[in-house]
Amino acid sequence: MHIVHPDLDTYLLEHCSPAADDVLRDLAEETRQAVPDLTSMQITQDEGAFLTLLTQLTGARLAVEVGTFTGYSSLCIARGLADGGKLIACDRSEEWTATARRYWERAGVADRVELRLGPALETLRSLPREENVDFAFIDADKGGYPDYYEELVTRLRPGGVIALDNVLQGGSVVDETEQSEPVKAIRAVNDAIAADVRVTSVMLPLRDGVTVVRKR
Ligand SMILES: C[S@@+](CC[C@H](N)C(=O)[O-])C[C@H]1O[C@@H](n2cnc3c(N)ncnc32)[C@H](O)[C@@H]1O
Repeated sequence: MHIVHPDLDTYLLEHCSPAADDVLRDLAEETRQAVPDLTSMQITQDEGAFLTLLTQLTGARLAVEVGTFTGYSSLCIARGLADGGKLIACDRSEEWTATARRYWERAGVADRVELRLGPALETLRSLPREENVDFAFIDADKGGYPDYYEELVTRLRPGGVIALDNVLQGGSVVDETEQSEPVKAIRAVNDAIAADVRVTSVMLPLRDGVTVVRKR
């Protein structure tokens, strides 16, 4: 299912800023060459610009990312942090995040990113149960989304924001014949957020769907 008409794709990419610089372009190209089958895991330039914008709008000093891969989204978040800010980047792949580390160095943000390798749920549960997270981005295994959301929303400060990627699953969320575990988990978190009195939220048709949640 095309969520946005393909004819609009280039136009959308051309009308957001900042445009991807050499660092982001090289990272996208290196990822495409290294793992061609997995390129779709990486967020696109417009979603990256959106993450930088959300990080800036929340004035984030503490951000958390679940699902780092080769580092595109983490770079966009790190670039939006307030002075002295920190991003805790969670992933379980040493191999893919080795690329991310190189690009954090090249972009001059390595000192703002703290990589936590391991199962993301364990990492999130190890964080203090304080409401001190300003911004979070969830983009890892879909089955984990309900738990990642719950662990993060309890740690979000009032006014803080969580963005969740792939919430439309290529349209499968509205296809009742689709009963795979990842899609069921995404439906569950989408329903939970819509009914969650702790937050206000909107689901945007950006790429594969991005939900933006603000804690009251
Ligand atoms: C869709 S990719 C993230 C893409 C990334 N946000 C980007 O912009 O390139 C998902 C990542 O989640 C990681 N992941 C999947 N399940 C995980 C888990 N249970 N704990 C930690 N990381 C996990 C994978 O290793 C992979 O790097």
